[in-house]
Amino acid sequence: MIMEFISIQQAMDKGEGEVSLRGWVNRERGSNKLKFIVLRDSTNTIQCVISRADVGDDKFAEADKLQVEASLEIHGEIKKDERAPTGYELHVKDLNVVGLSDSFPIQPGQSREFMDDNRHLLLRSSKMVAMLKIRSTIFGAIHNYFRAEGFFEYQSPIFQSMQCEGGSTLFECNYYGKPVYLAQTWQLYAEPAIFALEKIYTVAPSFRAEKSKTSRHLTEYWHAEMEAAWIEFTKLQDYSEGLLKAVVKEVLDKNLTDLKILERDIEKLKPTLEKPFPRMTYSDALKILNEKAGMNVEWGKDLRTIEEDKLSELYDTPVIVTDYPKKVKAFYMKEVADNPDVVQGFDVIAPEHYGEIVGASQREDDLEKLKQRLLDQGENLDEYEFYFDTRKYGSVPHGGFGLGVERVIAWVCGLDNIKDAIPFPRTMLRWKP
Ligand code: 4AD
Ligand code: MG
Repeated sequence: MIMEFISIQQAMDKGEGEVSLRGWVNRERGSNKLKFIVLRDSTNTIQCVISRADVGDDKFAEADKLQVEASLEIHGEIKKDERAPTGYELHVKDLNVVGLSDSFPIQPGQSREFMDDNRHLLLRSSKMVAMLKIRSTIFGAIHNYFRAEGFFEYQSPIFQSMQCEGGSTLFECNYYGKPVYLAQTWQLYAEPAIFALEKIYTVAPSFRAEKSKTSRHLTEYWHAEMEAAWIEFTKLQDYSEGLLKAVVKEVLDKNLTDLKILERDIEKLKPTLEKPFPRMTYSDALKILNEKAGMNVEWGKDLRTIEEDKLSELYDTPVIVTDYPKKVKAFYMKEVADNPDVVQGFDVIAPEHYGEIVGASQREDDLEKLKQRLLDQGENLDEYEFYFDTRKYGSVPHGGFGLGVERVIAWVCGLDNIKDAIPFPRTMLRWKP
């Protein structure tokens, strides 16, 4: 093969002449004289026609052995062809089999369980490829957004000696005979760094030993978090809205083909770009749920999935719910000045039943209140000494949020289950492959 390899997409953009491609067999069929192969690479697929008359008996015999997912190099002439699945056909002049394939286990119609057991092979399917490309765009968009807004990227440890989001979802590890926990959040290690960098963000794995087997919970997920000194509560909400708009915009700019493969109705994503997100207090949300959906939630109870879902049905953009009851939220959320039963925190609820995608708050700066709330949860204050220092040496108003990246991917892609928003999902019941 004489020519330099190009991608299938580049070959189709070229549209005519001789090209060399390499990839995997997506489909194959044929007769004794003619073989049709749909070749796949990371960019696209193309139908290739191999005729015994053109390539000779030996090469044709090689081509005849090809099963789905075999890898090969192929050389031929590309031509426009309306009848071909992607509009072009390659007339093969030479081919070189690189890796034969056994009978490929992934077939349409197999069970969820089987697909999850064969995740390493399922990655090659068109829907997974489309999701993975969108996932890549979303990670990039998060970095682009925060950097453009003047945030520094900053990293926190994954091994941590204390909880932040509640002791019941901690994963304990044996650290040379002592207990440590996998990070639930970067937060307690991010707050000390705002005194150095002021505006910081990260995208990193977080771990939650969730006891729930829902379509929204992973035990290991990617968490995009920001923390900023001097920030005010409305500005914090603006950042969460700005980030979500930037993410959706970049996906709509770059991944229309992938969204189509996933059969995503993009009209459902456009309002997020075009409209401001409704912002309401928790108390307003209860009123709206009561008036518009006949749901009665007792003040003080956290919003459950069914209430979040109902709320999401009333809007076509994400909704920001602020000022939750203190008793349902984490210890670090700042009390509202004239109403200590309520905290300056918010959740962003995604449209279309995708649930809470962002959790946020202003941080409590009153050291005694922080300590009391930790004691109320039964925590050992010794573990938090370093954190208390953030309130002792030039404390400033500050706040931050965390965005569940797979929840956002699931929403943007329109997936039924969060497991399909990550290559190798980890849940209560799944930790391999
Ligand atoms: O609301 P959470 O627990 O907030 C925090 O961890 C804060 N410390 C963040 C911060 O202020 N820096 O988690 C934040 C987000 C949730 O809104 C949700 O989108 C996602 O993380 N999340 C999960 N995603 C997938 N699987 C799980 N088990 C998740 N738990 C939380
Ligand atoms: Mg939360």
